[in-house]
Amino acid sequence: KGCKLVGCGSAVPSLSVSNDDLAKIVDTSDEWISVRTGIRNRRVISGKENLRNLAVEAAKKALKMANVEPDDLDLILLCTSTPEDIFGDAPKVQRELGCTKSQLAHDITAACSGFVLGLFSASCYIKGGGFRNVLVIGADVMSRFVDWTNRGTCILFGDAAGAVVLQACDAEEDGLLSFDLHSDGEGARHLGAPINDNENGSVLEFPPNRSSYACVQMNGKEVFRFAVRCVPQSIESALEKAGLTTSNIDWLLLHQANQRIIDAVATRLEFPPEKVISNLANYGNTSAASIPLALDEAVRSGKVKPGHAIAAAGFGAGLTWGSAVIRW
Ligand code: ACO
Repeated sequence: KGCKLVGCGSAVPSLSVSNDDLAKIVDTSDEWISVRTGIRNRRVISGKENLRNLAVEAAKKALKMANVEPDDLDLILLCTSTPEDIFGDAPKVQRELGCTKSQLAHDITAACSGFVLGLFSASCYIKGGGFRNVLVIGADVMSRFVDWTNRGTCILFGDAAGAVVLQACDAEEDGLLSFDLHSDGEGARHLGAPINDNENGSVLEFPPNRSSYACVQMNGKEVFRFAVRCVPQSIESALEKAGLTTSNIDWLLLHQANQRIIDAVATRLEFPPEKVISNLANYGNTSAASIPLALDEAVRSGKVKPGHAIAAAGFGAGLTWGSAVIRW
């Protein structure tokens, strides 16, 4: 059995925030941000925009390209770490898409690796579980969880959603060729947005206080080192499992966190710059949305063509990281 990618879509908020705009609220500059990260703009939710309506918009576009009706879906996986509701948003996305068959819909929480884990889950549901049409959405609104007075983190992120539709097919048509997935809780201290209470191991009184979460806390240098060390190994291992080498791959599509991370991984794996997909200059780090957002742009602009092989990798909080070899 196989599963193929039959559609993609994406959505970004209307408000565009440039590096110069950020320099008005924190002590930073366009030069510092663009030299260290490659980011020039990001989109940030405003008005009535939220995670769910971005996810629904991206999903509708992917379903349209796939020519799949909402009720033809057997499963919706919403990969997000910033839901509107901590119990999960996928069933609400299901309802807003107009699905009427109470098909399964659930969230997957794995920060910037979420979409790769979503692809893997979809492939298991299809190849082992008899599911036929699966929608995988990667969406995050990091703007709600960053401290807009902290120049070390607020400059990095943007909000977005991206989606793909996967369909059961014969093994020869398989579009998800291999995966390599990891996590390491030891590194969690370098990146997180932890719950505020009970820190320092203090004992909770009864009844416990209402919980709140801290803003994103990050040791940028450690995260950078982790990504540059672990991602090339993971991609090599996924390529090996697929029986492929870098030369068989048309596109390198990494989670869009920092242009210097993308360049370092590409150099390590000997991918020439013209085979590297990058759009973070326009959107910043959109967490679980970054891979499907970049994929959607690359497909719609005609860069990624049917039959092209893509090495994709997500990495981030957890720490989690993982790679997928995809045939579009
Ligand atoms: N503008 C101006 N100066 C700044 C800014 C800013 N926005 N942010 C930090 N600085 C200052 C610091 O205060 C420091 O000043 P000091 O030397 O006087 O103390 C100096 O710049 C250097 O700061 P560093 O944090 O050491 O800068 P670094 O070169 O490590 O770059 C960065 C920081 C861009 C965050 C980098 O470490 C990075 O990209 N790491 C990867 C992190 C990442 O991608 N996180 C995304 C979340 S997870 C994920 O998606 C993988």
